[in-house]
Amino acid sequence: MPLTTTAGATVGDNQASLTAGERGPILIQDWQLIEKLAHQNRERIPERIVHAKGWGAHGVLRITGDISHLTCARVLQPGARTRMIARFSTVAGEMGAADHERDVRGFALKFYTEEGNWDLVGNNTPVFFVRDPLKFPDFIHTQKRHPRTNLRSPTAMWDFWSLSPESLHQVTILFSDRGLPVSPMHMNGYGGHAYSLWNDKGERVWVKFHFKTRQGHRHYTNAQAQEVVGRTREGYQEALFGSIEAGIFPQWIMQVQIMTHEQAAAVPFNPFDITKVWPHAGFPLIEVGVLELNRNPRNYFAEVEQLAFSPSNVVRGIGHSPDRMLQGRIFAYADAHRYRLGTHYEALPVNRPLCPVHHYHKDGAMRFFDNLSNPDAYYEPNSFSGPKEDGSFIEPPLDLHGPAFRFDLREGNDDFSQPRALFTLFDCGQKARLFANIAAAMTDVPAGIVERQLGLFSQVHPDYGAGVCAALDAIDPPF
Ligand code: NDP
Ligand code: HEM
Repeated sequence: MPLTTTAGATVGDNQASLTAGERGPILIQDWQLIEKLAHQNRERIPERIVHAKGWGAHGVLRITGDISHLTCARVLQPGARTRMIARFSTVAGEMGAADHERDVRGFALKFYTEEGNWDLVGNNTPVFFVRDPLKFPDFIHTQKRHPRTNLRSPTAMWDFWSLSPESLHQVTILFSDRGLPVSPMHMNGYGGHAYSLWNDKGERVWVKFHFKTRQGHRHYTNAQAQEVVGRTREGYQEALFGSIEAGIFPQWIMQVQIMTHEQAAAVPFNPFDITKVWPHAGFPLIEVGVLELNRNPRNYFAEVEQLAFSPSNVVRGIGHSPDRMLQGRIFAYADAHRYRLGTHYEALPVNRPLCPVHHYHKDGAMRFFDNLSNPDAYYEPNSFSGPKEDGSFIEPPLDLHGPAFRFDLREGNDDFSQPRALFTLFDCGQKARLFANIAAAMTDVPAGIVERQLGLFSQVHPDYGAGVCAALDAIDPPF
C-alpha cells in the first residue's frame, strides 16, 4: 500500500527532507515535511475539563427483564440487543494522571439505539457532592490545581466540603473502600439522577438506573495503590484492554428502581436530590438486562477521546426529571463538546447514531456530511418533502407549579441520615480504613477547617467523628 500525503499523492521518500545540496538548508517546497510538522502541532485537542483520564470499550446491552408496561423505549423492550460504548474515567486528574488514584470514577454509557443515541452519563457512586449546578464549577475548582502553587489543595477540598454538608454522603463513599477500585471492571455504575420512563399511554414514572458488577467488588488500600502506581500509572487501561483482548468480557447486571408520582410526593426526602439514594426497602431493584463489554477500540483517540456523552441524549420512552443537577448537565455537556470537539461532534463516527439523522442545522467548521436528500429543503416548513416532526414522539406533559425563586435546598434538608445508613453498613475494618483514609487526606489542612468537618462527621455518627479524630492523632499525636 503506497504512503500518501493527505491529498493522496504518493510519497517517494519518507526518510530525508528536501535540501539545497547535501549539507544545505531545507527548501520551503518540501510540502511533505511541512504537512507532517503542521499535523503534529495539531495532534492534541483540549482535554475534558473534568474526567480527562479515561478507558473505554464497545459492547452490547441485552434486555432480559420486562418493563415494557413502563416504557415504550425500544432499547428497553424484552429481548432487545443494542450496541453501545462505555468510557470509564477518574474525575480530577489530568490525562496523564495515574489510574489508581482515590477518586470517583465516571461510568458513561452510549447506547446506539434504533431510535437515536441514549447516553447514561453516571459514576461508580449513586450520589454526588453537590445538588445544585450553580455549585459545580466551585466544587471542581477545589479538586483541580491551586492557581498559585499549581498543586492539588487538600485545604480547598476540605474547606468546601466542610461548608457543604450535602457532600457528606459522597465523601463517605469516596474515602471508603469503594473509593479506590482495582479496575473499572470491579465497580458498579449508577445513573445517579432520577430520570423518567414513559409508555405509549402517556404514563410517566421516575426511574434510577444501576449497573452491578458481575466481576465482584475489588479495591486497593492506599498503600496497595501506591505500590501499584510505582509500577504502572496505566493499570486500568492495562486491565480493561487486556481482559477484552484475552476474550474475558466484563459484565454488569442492569437494574432499575421505580417511583410513582404519588410516592415521590410522599417520601420524606427530595427524590430529585442527587445527594440522596432511594432506599432499596421502599424501592426494590428490578432486573432489566445485562451489559457486556466485548470489543476494544481500534483507535483510542478516534473512539474514546472523541467520544462525547450528554445527559441531554434521551430517546422516546425515556425522559429527564426536575433534578437540578441533571437540568444543568443537559446544557453543560453539549456546550463542552462544541468547544472541545467542534460544531459537528455528533457526526464523528463514534458519536454518530445508527439511525438516519435529518436536521436543518447548516454549515460551520468541518461540515463533512451531505445535504438533505433534496437540497431545496434547507428550511422548515417547506414544500420540498424535507423532514417533518412526528407528534407520536412528544413526551407526556409534566405538571410544574410554584413561584420562580432561588429555593435553598439546604433548608430543612437531612444530610446526615443516609451517610449514617452507609456508615452503619461498614464493618470494623471498613470503618478503620475510612478513618485512616480521611485523616491521610487532611494533611496540612488548617485546624479550623478540620474541626468543622469533624463536627459534620459527628453529626452523621459520634463514632465517625471520634474515629477520624483518633486517626488524625495517630498521624500527628497531640502533646
Ligand atoms: P441496602 O442495605 O438495601 O443497600 C446497601 C447498598 O449499599 C447496596 O446497594 C450495596 O451495594 C451498597 N454498599 C455496600 N457497601 C458499600 C460501600 N462500602 N460503599 C458504597 N456502597 C456500599 O440499604 P439502602 O438502600 O437503605 O441504602 C443504605 C445506604 O447504602 C445508602 O444510604 C447508601 O449510602 C448506600 N447505597 C444505597 C444504594 C441505593 O440505591 N439504595 C446504592 C448504593 C449504595 P452492592 O449491592 O453493590 O454491594
Ligand atoms: C464529564 C459537567 C455533574 C459524570 C463532564 C464534562 C463536563 C461536565 C463539562 C466534560 C465533557 C467533555 O468534555 O466530554 C458537569 C456539570 C455537572 C456535572 C456542569 C453538574 C451540574 C456530573 C454528575 C455526574 C457526572 C452528577 C455523575 C452522576 C460525568 C462523567 C463524565 C463527565 C462520567 C465523563 C464522560 C466521558 O467519559 O466522556 N461533566 N458534570 N457529572 N461527567 Fe459531569
